[in-house]
Amino acid sequence: TYVVTQNCIRCKYTDCVEVCPVDCFYEGENFLVIHPDECIDCGLCEPECPAEAIFLDDEVPDDQQNFIQLNADLAEKWPNITERTEPLEDAEEWKDKHDKLVFLIK
Ligand code: SF4
Ligand code: F3S
Repeated sequence: TYVVTQNCIRCKYTDCVEVCPVDCFYEGENFLVIHPDECIDCGLCEPECPAEAIFLDDEVPDDQQNFIQLNADLAEKWPNITERTEPLEDAEEWKDKHDKLVFLIK
C-alpha cells in the first residue's frame, strides 16, 4: 500500500485525490491519509504530490515508519475525500519544512 507521510501536514495539496482510481483518501484538517485495505498500489498518486509526501510502504523513510500505522488508524476515523480542493493557505510556506508531525490535527 501507499502511505502519506509528514510532508503533507499543513499543505494538503490534494492533487493525489484527483488521480486515485479507487477514492481511498481520507481527510483530516491538515493532512490526508490512504486506507491501506483500499489502495490498489497503482502508484498514480506518488508523482502528483508537490510536497513528495507519498511513498510505497516498503520505501517509507526510516524516521517516518510510524506513518504507516497512522494512515491505517486515521483512515478509519476520517471522512472520505474524492475531489481535489484548494491547498491549505500556507501550503507553500510549509512545503519544505521538516518535523511537522507535532502540527498534525487528528
Ligand atoms: Fe490511490 Fe493508486 Fe495512490 Fe493507492 S497508489 S492511493 S490506489 S492513487
Ligand atoms: Fe498531501 Fe500531497 Fe496529497 S500534500 S494532500 S499527499 S498531494
